[in-house]
Amino acid sequence: MPATTPLYDTYLRAPLRFERGEGVWLIAEDGTRYLDFAAGVAVNSLGHAHPHLVEALKAQADKVWHLSNLYEIAGQESLARRLTQVTFADRVFFTNSGAEALECAIKTARRYHFAKGHVEKFHVITFEGAFHGRTLATIAAGGQQKYIEGFGPKAPGFYQVPFGDIGAVKNAINEETAAILVEPIQGEGGIRQASKEFMQGLREICDEFGLLLILDEVQSGVGRTGKLFAHEWAGIKPDIMAVAKGIGGGFPLGACLATEAAAAGMVAGTHGSTYGGNPLAMAVGNAVLDVVLAEGFLDKVREVTLVFRQGLASLKDRFPDVVEEIRGDGLMLGIKAKVPSADLLKAIRAEKLLVVPAGENVLRLLPPLITTPAEAREGLARLERAAEAVRGKSGDAAT
Ligand SMILES: Cc1ncc(COP(=O)(O)O)c(C=O)c1O
Repeated sequence: MPATTPLYDTYLRAPLRFERGEGVWLIAEDGTRYLDFAAGVAVNSLGHAHPHLVEALKAQADKVWHLSNLYEIAGQESLARRLTQVTFADRVFFTNSGAEALECAIKTARRYHFAKGHVEKFHVITFEGAFHGRTLATIAAGGQQKYIEGFGPKAPGFYQVPFGDIGAVKNAINEETAAILVEPIQGEGGIRQASKEFMQGLREICDEFGLLLILDEVQSGVGRTGKLFAHEWAGIKPDIMAVAKGIGGGFPLGACLATEAAAAGMVAGTHGSTYGGNPLAMAVGNAVLDVVLAEGFLDKVREVTLVFRQGLASLKDRFPDVVEEIRGDGLMLGIKAKVPSADLLKAIRAEKLLVVPAGENVLRLLPPLITTPAEAREGLARLERAAEAVRGKSGDAAT
């Protein structure tokens, strides 16, 4: 029998077809409007069809699309300079995706020790519940069996410990340890937030044992938590950081950022990418920063965050049989459901609201950073109606 689709079956797709987007709205082929609190999965940081991003992409498309990294690329220089001015970093390598940014981060950490003559130091400590991408190295880093199984031997050099357990991190360190890799807020894992103390503890351990601290801010970065990067809330600085998703506002773009010292081993020829840092991506990345770094933008993100916080707290109070816990920070929020999250997701979708499933029976809210308080309230009203519907159903089942 011929397959119903020529596509790989790797995605469990919802039967929804969107034709266009406007700000926080996605419009389906039949004209139905959905409030998009998924934003890709934290990708469309400035919503859909943001005029400044559209203009930047079109203007660059008229000039040149692709240039080999055999030449200097002005957009790369400017975007990298801006990123280094507003972060801990001195050096940047551009990629097309989050997993590639992580690959670069891991390679950078290993080369740092190699360049110092420590070839044995290539192990990276990672955390249970982590997600770092789908390449062979990043599935090993994430450590989740469901992603590793069937793809041959797991890439060596990754050692997992429980998230939040400083003692376990210390115990895991040996002469082969090169780095610690952590998401400040685990996204796929179920919006599990690292405490400030844990992040500070990791920084201290890295300093004490000569390890590099790698942060995966692919999902939590670029304004999502109300600071440019989530680690800023803990008052620490990493040595290396992987960024993607929000930095491209929907255009494929990732980056690996590092201090001068951490990047020291990445000399000519050690790494490369055909498309990484291409002019179209650079134009959009620069346009995203124009908006996110504009005065007052992150203040507005923090303001709308309060609307979500209050609304979700009241959702939990009013529907204790549906909502177990509200998690997360800024606009990276999670509703841990008491009912099966798939049931709640269905009810939410029936209200024409888009959210994203995650681990631990959690649904993620990752609205665009441009969401207004009125749009937040609209989404919260839809969540209430969905919770009401689910409660009604479970009540029916009980009788
Ligand atoms: C924290 C984190 N790291 C890495 C990745 C991988 O990014 P990509 O799918 O762009 O390779 C993701 C994607 O969801 C992510 O959330």
